[in-house]
Amino acid sequence: MTQKLPPRRLSVAPMLDWTDRHYRYMARQITRHTWLYSEMINAGAVIFGDKDRFLLRNECENPVALQLGGSEPADLAKAAKAAEQYGYDEVNLNCGCPSPRVQKGAFGACLMNEVGLVADCLNAMQDAVQIDVTVKHRIGVDRQTEYQSVADFVGTLAAKTACKTYIVHARNAWLDGLSPKENRDVPPLKYDYVYRLKQEFPDLEIIINGGVNTNEQIAAHLAHVDGVMVGRECYHNPMIMRQWDSLFYGDNREPVVYETLVAKLQAYAQEQIAAGRGTILRHMARHYLGLMHGLKGARTWRRMLSDAALLKPSDPKLIKDAWAEVAKANGFQTGI
Ligand SMILES: Cc1cc2nc3c(=O)[nH]c(=O)nc-3n(C[C@H](O)[C@H](O)[C@H](O)COP(=O)(O)O)c2cc1C
Repeated sequence: MTQKLPPRRLSVAPMLDWTDRHYRYMARQITRHTWLYSEMINAGAVIFGDKDRFLLRNECENPVALQLGGSEPADLAKAAKAAEQYGYDEVNLNCGCPSPRVQKGAFGACLMNEVGLVADCLNAMQDAVQIDVTVKHRIGVDRQTEYQSVADFVGTLAAKTACKTYIVHARNAWLDGLSPKENRDVPPLKYDYVYRLKQEFPDLEIIINGGVNTNEQIAAHLAHVDGVMVGRECYHNPMIMRQWDSLFYGDNREPVVYETLVAKLQAYAQEQIAAGRGTILRHMARHYLGLMHGLKGARTWRRMLSDAALLKPSDPKLIKDAWAEVAKANGFQTGI
């Protein structure tokens, strides 16, 4: 890449149905430097499906990574190539998703049991593109609870591939008996395993993920690893990212203010709806519900932006009207 990319000190996790390009547009208005990860897209969908539908991104989104699901090296290579052509800065291979649908396709977390195949996939992807190829995984699958299983996984990949970046969700995936949602909360977090990976593999970029929801926790993790990936908190409380540029990237420009952000989101919604492609206000508004988290009037904001009758005309002015209620509740002056 010609352009210099920021380090992956902070990133927003890939989240199916959540981190689509509309969410990522909003996140990018809040933080300039944080890496953004797409939802997991199946390699087959990228190759055989409507590429625009799966790969379209907004110009402002970079640094942005496309996460792929799959276990066929040749398919993953083609999909990685397409991601590069669509302007992504990284392709990430999912080795952490525990959903039964994914297990049937023999990818996601069950790939942790097939490290040789993962190496083949990463090598095929890296041979096809100039951008970084990275992996996101768990600390183990089912009964592999010892540190050594994740250390062997990472150590083997580091020896057999050019992959330098490992994003580690610091809990096991239990493939039998737990739903994907339970798999994000029930298996215990073992941050010490991820810290130890960084100690044993100092030349690799090790990113920790799982259960992080305050800036204090982020700062504490950064004493041990290269980066922190945050998922659910960035979705339910996106304004947590407002301080990240100054706290973690040394960029002391003024953080975005609510009113400017609201105006940008309204203009964006207008533009997207006008562009056609079947985009309606609800596709964007659903990602904005957490934006006023912690402010008076947050419930009214959420209610208005999820009200089927109010959303039906698909008029972006609804965003401004909902903001007017929040501003009134907090005694803010509004100029939009
Ligand atoms: C709605 C939802 C969808 C998710 N989809 C993906 C996905 O597509 N790929 C992936 O690697 N992880 C996925 N995850 C897991 C997150 O990337 C992350 O590893 C997990 O939520 C733990 O981080 P957190 O505690 O900060 O949320 C998803 C999580 C949620 C809540």
